[in-house]
Amino acid sequence: MENKYKRTLITTALPYANGPVHIGHLAGVYVPADIYARYLRLQGRDVLMIGGSDEHGVPITIRARKEGITPQDVVDRYHKLIKDSFEELGISFDIYSRTTSETHAETASEFFRHIYDKGGFVEKASMQFYDEGAGRFVTDRNVVGECPVCHAPGAYGDQCEKCGSSLSATELINPRCAETGNTPVLRETFHWYLPLDRWQPQLQKWILEGHKEWRTNVYGQCKSWLDLGLQPRAVTRDLDWGIPVPVEGAEGKVLYVWFDAPIGYISNTKELLPEQWEKWWKDPETRIINFIGKDNIVFHCIIFPAMLLAYGDGYQLPDNVPSNEFLNLEGDKISTSRNWAVWLHEYLRDFPGKQDVLRYVLTANAPETKDNDFTWADFQARNNNELVAVLGNFVNRATVLTHKFFGGTLPTPAALQPADVQLADDLRAAVAELTASLEGFHFREALKQAMEIARLGNRYLQETEPWKVAKTDMERAGTILYTAIQLCANLAIAFEPFMPFMSKRLVKMLGVKDISWDMLGRMDLVDAGTAIAQPELLFDKIEDEAVAAQLQRLADTKKANLEAAWRPAEQQPDVDFDTFCRSDLRVGTVVECERVPKADKLLRFLIDDGTPEKRTIVSGIAKSYPDPSVLVGKQVVFIANLPPRKLRGIESQGMLLSAEDKDGRLVLTTVSDAVAPGAQVK
Ligand code: MF3
Ligand code: ZN
Repeated sequence: MENKYKRTLITTALPYANGPVHIGHLAGVYVPADIYARYLRLQGRDVLMIGGSDEHGVPITIRARKEGITPQDVVDRYHKLIKDSFEELGISFDIYSRTTSETHAETASEFFRHIYDKGGFVEKASMQFYDEGAGRFVTDRNVVGECPVCHAPGAYGDQCEKCGSSLSATELINPRCAETGNTPVLRETFHWYLPLDRWQPQLQKWILEGHKEWRTNVYGQCKSWLDLGLQPRAVTRDLDWGIPVPVEGAEGKVLYVWFDAPIGYISNTKELLPEQWEKWWKDPETRIINFIGKDNIVFHCIIFPAMLLAYGDGYQLPDNVPSNEFLNLEGDKISTSRNWAVWLHEYLRDFPGKQDVLRYVLTANAPETKDNDFTWADFQARNNNELVAVLGNFVNRATVLTHKFFGGTLPTPAALQPADVQLADDLRAAVAELTASLEGFHFREALKQAMEIARLGNRYLQETEPWKVAKTDMERAGTILYTAIQLCANLAIAFEPFMPFMSKRLVKMLGVKDISWDMLGRMDLVDAGTAIAQPELLFDKIEDEAVAAQLQRLADTKKANLEAAWRPAEQQPDVDFDTFCRSDLRVGTVVECERVPKADKLLRFLIDDGTPEKRTIVSGIAKSYPDPSVLVGKQVVFIANLPPRKLRGIESQGMLLSAEDKDGRLVLTTVSDAVAPGAQVK
């Protein structure tokens, strides 16, 4: 397959450098791209994997203003964090650069200028919101107001998240700048537009006729865009953070971030190979593959290709754009702003040495055809039941038995028996499916096939029982273990794209050198006489405590988010003064306070209300006071003239007043100075 190509250029969507990367990014783009790149390298194919940080765009400027630092400070911080954590996870970029590099500024600038000089843009005036207080234009996304369709407050200038209508900022009722709260005014501006409509026929032919093999989500999105008819897209913005538009009279304008970012793929290739980059982009024998998330489809399948066509000069279009759906976390959408994510750098800190486990779980659960959910319970189960119990267990049995019976020296095999031949056949069948799945970008399925090889190994040992055979027939036991160790070597190769750290350790344990994909399926990868290293466990169990700590972190996040979103309740409609005066509010002193048995919310109070009888009040605040005895002696406020009510068999003669805090905790109202029990509150 793909023999018409001499080399493969793999690009990975450039993550915005305004936050760390999380499991959603990894599952969607970087892990699958890395699997593919590693697989091609094992095949000995010429391949480059290009990555980098996307360092322009409005959110970065907002973050900088919020923190009182420069946008460059923001991207410096996150670029380093992202780059380092990718490296630690074993994502094997040939280069991971950034869009604030000099090479990129030159490349993107020249790219714009070249299209401009060819007459490839149209210039158009428009009215745009302007924040006079801040002295800058505001992008549609950063204007908020009432939705003209459903009248929800807080709709964005490009979309209402309540009703889903797509809007333009000028339609909002009572528009405000999200950042400053100022009311924006309309001001005339102009921008350069890329007339996508000019490229519609070519794009249509290329995708709809030429790439029916693309994933249905990608093909479908492209088709609906094309069916609607492509429109010119503005490719410049009035901003001061970005690559200046290299045209006279364009002061204060920069390239739109989605114009400059994909050019980053080109700049980064250039930075890596200043002399040879062109063959990776302009030679029809190069196969370009863009790994992206589903929110990037239109940019990679329509807009960037139109840019490449507009530039001309032999630029090649991608051959495939494998795009994943989204990964959720514990049932909720991953969100950077709500801190609802598993951050890669935190995972690496909390689970040192377990890079492969994350890679494994994210692949086994990859959102290839639909959104998927990451849960810590699943993470633990896959580690303990699959990596430890299947893969780790097989390798461990094979190596331990080789040490036990042969002192760690791989024995010479005797004649093969049917079980040995069957194993080799099954292995080759699994390898064929594994390879086909990788070729088709079905990484979940591919991982299953790799795991199937380990399962074959366990079944083989179960069936041949070398530990029993060794008692009577050492030669046969030797053949079985020889065969099992060959399977281990196959596992080291088959899993390399998925779990490179494990593969490396296993290869070393077995003394295999220079693995390649075409060695897969062979049963002579480790020579007889090889000294197998002391067995070491490839994986260990993940304990409940580790998972509980992660779940606690998420629970804390959820609570913090609720508190951050808290607002005082809407005021109730007015009551007339007389009605209010009929409520008889009084102060009382708590004499007794205890939990009501078998009612986890209720406390029973005995209140000194100035009468000899005193009064009993039952109140639903037990959850807020784990130790009710602290309330004894407090002076509290109660409503005296409510009709008595029975709660759990106790007659409650009134109601205590308490305030509900942000987190739902109820706090009893007390008086600030001692007063006589029974005093009225007026
Ligand atoms: N930063 C974008 C995102 O996270 C992706 C940019 S991909 C590129 O959605 F092609 F523009 F680089
Ligand atoms: Zn709406």
